[in-house]
Amino acid sequence: MDGWPAAKSVLLLMAAAATWISFFLVTDASAGAVTCIRRERDALLAFKQGINDTGDELGSWQPGRQDCCRWAGITCSNVTGRVIGLDLSRRFSLVGQISPSLLSLEHLQYLNLQSTSLCGHDGRIPEFLGSLKNLRHLDLSYIYCSDTVPPQLGNLSKLEYLDLSNMEMDLIDISWLAHLPRLMYLDISYMNLSSIADWPLVVNMIPSLKDLRLSYCSLSSTNQSLTHLNLTNLQHLDLSLNYFGHPIASSWFWNVTSIEYLDLSDTSLHGPFPNALGNMTFLRQLNFYHQSFGTGNTATMTVDLKNLCDLEMIWLDGSLSSGNITEFLEKLPRCPSNRLQELKLSSNNMVGMLPNRMAHLTNLSSLDLSYNNITGAIPPWLENCTSLSYLSLSSNSLTGPIPVGIGSCTILDILDLSYNDITGAIPLGIGNFTTLRYLVLSHNLLSGHVPSKIGMLGDLIDLDLSNNNLDGLITREHMVSLKNLRHMDLSHNSFSGPLRIETGAQFLLELSLSSNYFSGHIPGSICQLRNLLVLDLSDNFLEGELPQCSHELNLVFLLLSNNGFSGKFPSSLRNYSSLAFMDLSRNNLYGTLPLWIEELVQLRFLQLSHNLLYGDIPVTISNLQHLHQLSLAGNNISGVIPESLLNLTSMAQKDPENSEDDMSAWYNNNVGKFRGVWQVVMKRQELKYGAGIFDVVGIDLSLNHLIGEIPERITSLDGLLNLNLSWNHLSGKIPAKIGAMKSIESLDLSRNNLYGEIPASLSELTFLSSLDLSYNNLTGRIPPGSQLDTIYTENPSIYTGNIGLCGPPLERNCSGNNSLEHVNQPRRDSVYEAKMFFYFGLGSGYVAGLWVVFCAMLFKKAWRVAYFRLFDKLYDKAYVFVVLTWGRINGKASTS
Ligand SMILES: *[C@@H]1O[C@H](CO)[C@@H](O)[C@H](O)[C@H]1NC(C)=O
Ligand SMILES: *[C@@H]1O[C@H](CO)[C@@H](O)[C@H](O)[C@H]1NC(C)=O
Ligand SMILES: *[C@@H]1O[C@H](CO)[C@@H](O)[C@H](O)[C@H]1NC(C)=O
Ligand SMILES: *[C@@H]1O[C@H](CO)[C@@H](O)[C@H](O)[C@H]1NC(C)=O
Ligand SMILES: *[C@@H]1O[C@H](CO)[C@@H](O)[C@H](O)[C@H]1NC(C)=O
Ligand SMILES: *[C@@H]1O[C@H](CO)[C@@H](O)[C@H](O)[C@H]1NC(C)=O
Ligand SMILES: *[C@@H]1O[C@H](CO)[C@@H](O)[C@H](O)[C@H]1NC(C)=O
Ligand SMILES: *[C@@H]1O[C@H](CO)[C@@H](O)[C@H](O)[C@H]1NC(C)=O
Ligand SMILES: *[C@@H]1O[C@H](CO)[C@@H](O)[C@H](O)[C@H]1NC(C)=O
Repeated sequence: MDGWPAAKSVLLLMAAAATWISFFLVTDASAGAVTCIRRERDALLAFKQGINDTGDELGSWQPGRQDCCRWAGITCSNVTGRVIGLDLSRRFSLVGQISPSLLSLEHLQYLNLQSTSLCGHDGRIPEFLGSLKNLRHLDLSYIYCSDTVPPQLGNLSKLEYLDLSNMEMDLIDISWLAHLPRLMYLDISYMNLSSIADWPLVVNMIPSLKDLRLSYCSLSSTNQSLTHLNLTNLQHLDLSLNYFGHPIASSWFWNVTSIEYLDLSDTSLHGPFPNALGNMTFLRQLNFYHQSFGTGNTATMTVDLKNLCDLEMIWLDGSLSSGNITEFLEKLPRCPSNRLQELKLSSNNMVGMLPNRMAHLTNLSSLDLSYNNITGAIPPWLENCTSLSYLSLSSNSLTGPIPVGIGSCTILDILDLSYNDITGAIPLGIGNFTTLRYLVLSHNLLSGHVPSKIGMLGDLIDLDLSNNNLDGLITREHMVSLKNLRHMDLSHNSFSGPLRIETGAQFLLELSLSSNYFSGHIPGSICQLRNLLVLDLSDNFLEGELPQCSHELNLVFLLLSNNGFSGKFPSSLRNYSSLAFMDLSRNNLYGTLPLWIEELVQLRFLQLSHNLLYGDIPVTISNLQHLHQLSLAGNNISGVIPESLLNLTSMAQKDPENSEDDMSAWYNNNVGKFRGVWQVVMKRQELKYGAGIFDVVGIDLSLNHLIGEIPERITSLDGLLNLNLSWNHLSGKIPAKIGAMKSIESLDLSRNNLYGEIPASLSELTFLSSLDLSYNNLTGRIPPGSQLDTIYTENPSIYTGNIGLCGPPLERNCSGNNSLEHVNQPRRDSVYEAKMFFYFGLGSGYVAGLWVVFCAMLFKKAWRVAYFRLFDKLYDKAYVFVVLTWGRINGKASTS
C-alpha cells in the first residue's frame, strides 16, 4: 500500500508528458507552413477515385485531411511542399486506373506502382506517364497491363531509374531508351525481347548506365559487335536465363572493365572464358552456374585471375566441361587483401589434386568442390581457413585421412566429405566444431571409434556417418548433449554392443542404425523420442520385444527387419497408430496376425515375411485403406485368400486427377531428403529402392499354406506391380480377366495346383517383365504375344512342370502328342536347387548365381558378417546408381 501514492504521481507525470508531446507535435505541423497545395491534393483525390481500394490502403487519403503530405505513400518536398514522391508499391489490393490527374503533380520525381493492379483506362500503360517531366524514378514492375510499353517514356529525360521487369509483356521497340541520357538503372527482366536483336546497340547509347538487368528476356545472342564501347560506367550486368548458343568469348561486354557484378548463369554460353576476364579488375562476383545438372558443362576456365583483387564470389557449378583443380586454384587472385569468400565449383568434371599450400584462400567462407573427380588428400591448408563455414568436398575421389588440424576451423557450419575414399579415424578435433550443424562423412572408408567429443556438438542438426568401417560402442557421451539433432544415420558400419539411445535430442526425426552389430533389446529410452518419425534398426542382432511406451508414439516408419525379434506379433504396436511403413520381416515372430491390425489405419507398407506366423490372413486387413504393399511371404499362413483383401482400393489404379497423399512429398516436408535404401522382393530379386519405394504396389503371399482358388476379383486390384502367390496350395483356374491388371510387372503363380488354360488376356499385360507359371497343372495352348515370347526367351522355365501346356514357344505341339516333355526334363535339377534356396526363405522364383550366394548369406549371419562388409564396399557406388535409377524410372517406365 505504501507504493501506491508514488505510482499515482508517476502516472500523473506521464499523462502530463503525453499532453506536452502531442501539443508539440500539433504545433510543429501547423507552424511548419509546408503543407501540400490544394491543386495537388485534389489531383490525388481524383487519382483515388479511379481506384477500387478494397484493402483500404488509401484510407488516409481523405478530403478532410488537409495535409496530403501525410497521406500514405506521399512524399513532399520539405522546402516547397510540392508532392515529389508517390509510392504505392506492394499494395496488392489496389485495382483500377492510373488517372491522368497525376499530371497535376508537376514536381513528381518518384513514382512506384510495383505489384499493384493499376493500368490506364484502356488497360494499357498510359502514354501520359511520358509527360511527367521531372520523373527520376519509375517502377512499374509486376503490374500486368496489356499491349506494350509506350515509347513516350523516352521523353522522361531526367529518368535515372527504370524498372519494367516482370510485366509479362513483349517489348517490340526499345529504341526510346536511347533518349534517357541520365538512366543509371534499367531492369527489364522477365519481359520478352526476342524480337530485338540489336539490344546491345541500344543500351550502348546510354553511357550513364550502371546497372542493367536483362534476366529471362528470351534474348537470342550477346555476340553483337560494338565499334565503340560507351558503357564505361556499367557495374552490374545480369544476362542470366537467356539462351545464347554461342561462345562466351564472342560476347560484347568483355571490354567493359568497370563491371563489378556479372551474372551469366543458365545462359548456355560455351567454350573458353576469354583472357579479357583477367582485366576486369573491379569484378566482385561472377555467376556462371548451370542449374540443370549435366546439361551445361560446355565451358572451360583457364584465365589467370590473379589481378582481380576485389573478387568475392565465383559460382561455376555445373558449367565446366573439364578442368584441373590444381591449376584453377593457382590462378585465383593473389592480393594482400584476400577478399575471396565463396568458391563454388560443384559438378564440373574437375580432375587433379588440391595443392598443399594455398595462402591466398584464407578468407574463404564457402568452398564447394563436390561432384568432381578430385584425387589426392585433403590439404592441410584448410586448417588456416578460419573463416570457413561451408565446406563440401563430397563425391570426389579423395583419399587419405581427414587432417588433424581441421579442428582449428571452429566456425564451421556445414562439413560434407561424403562419397570419397577417405581413410583413418575421425579426428578428435571434431569436438572443436561447436557451431557445426551438418556433419556428413558418409560413404568413405573411415575406421576406428567415433570420438565421444562428437557428443559436444550441441548445434548439430544432421549427423551422417553411414557407410564407413567405424566400430566400437556408442555410449551415452556420444549423444547426450546433441540437443538439436534432427537426423542421425550410423547405418552400414560395424558398431556393436547394446543400443544406447539416451539422447537429449528431443527433436530427433530420423534415427538409422541399420546394418551394424548392435545387440540386446531396444531400450525403453526410445519412448522419450516423441518426435521420432523414422526408426531404422534393421539388419542387426537385436532381440526381445518392442518396448511398451506409456504414451502414443509418432513413428511413421519402423524398420526392424533381419534381427532376432521374437514373441507374438507385438501388441505394443497398438500405441504406434501413425505407422505407415512397417517392416518386421526376417525375425522370429510367432503366432497369428491379430485382428487389431486394422487399428494401424495409416499403414501403407507392411512386410512381415519370413517369420513364423500362422493362421488365417485377418479379414480386418481390408480396413487398411492406404495399404500399398503387403508381404507375408515365407510364413505358415493358411486358409484361403480372404475376399476382403480385394477391397483394398489403395491397390487399384488411381484416378490421376484425384491423386492420393504423396508420401514422397510428405517425407520431404516432414523428415527431409530421403536417404534410405529399402528393399522389396520382386521380379525374382531383392530390389533396392530409394524414394521410389513409395510407389511400389504389391502383394506377396508366397511360401505359405494357402488353399482355395485365386479370387476372380483380384483382377480389380489393377494398380498392383507385383503379385506373388507362388509356393502355396492354391487350386482352380487363373482368373480369366488377369489381363485387367494393367500395371503388373511381376507375376508369380508357380508351385500351386492351378489347372485349366492360361487366359488369353495374359498377353495384354504390356508392362509384364517377369512371369512364372511353372509347376502347376495348366493345360492347353500358350497364348500368343510378343511380350510373353520375350519373357520366355529370357527365362525358358516359366511354363515348366505343366505337362498339359503346348504350342509355341514350347516345342510340344498341341496335337495331343506329349513326346516332347523330355525337353524340359534337364531343368529339374536346377529347379530343385532353387527350391532348397527358397526354403532358406527369400521367395519369388529362380534366382541365379550371385543372388543365391547373397540370399544364403542373409540367413547365415556368421557368413553375412564377413561377406557383407566386403560386398557393401564393393557395391556402394553401383548401389547408389541402382537407387537413383529406380527413383527416376520408377514404375512403368522401367519396363516399357
Ligand atoms: C471492387 O472490388 C470488389 C472486389 O474485387 C468487387 O466486388 C467490386 O465490384 C469492385 N468495385 C468496383 C466499383 O469495381
Ligand atoms: C529536406 O530533405 C532533404 C532530403 O530528404 C534533406 O537533406 C534536407 O536536410 C531537408 N531539409 C530540411 C530543411 O529539412
Ligand atoms: C555513345 O553514346 C552517345 C550518347 O548517347 C551516342 O551519341 C553515341 O552514338 C554512342 N555511341 C555508340 C557507338 O553507340
Ligand atoms: C576490346 O579490347 C580489345 C583489346 O583491347 C580490342 O581489340 C577490341 O576491339 C575491343 N572491343 C571492343 C568492342 O571495344
Ligand atoms: C588487358 O589490359 C592490358 C593493359 O590495359 C592490355 O594490354 C591487354 O591487351 C588486356 N588484355 C586483354 C585480353 O584484353
Ligand atoms: C593438374 O595440373 C597439375 C599442375 O599443372 C599437373 O601437375 C597435374 O598432372 C594435372 N592433373 C591432371 C589429372 O591432369
Ligand atoms: C575420374 O578419373 C579417373 C582417372 O582419371 C577416371 O578413370 C574416372 O572415370 C573418372 N571418374 C569420373 C566419374 O569422371
Ligand atoms: C597457416 O598459416 C600460417 C601463418 O600464415 C603458416 O605459417 C602455415 O604454414 C599455414 N599452414 C598451412 C598448412 O598452410
Ligand atoms: C581446437 O581449437 C583450438 C583453438 O582454435 C586449437 O588450439 C586446438 O588445437 C584445437 N584442437 C584440436 C584437437 O584440433
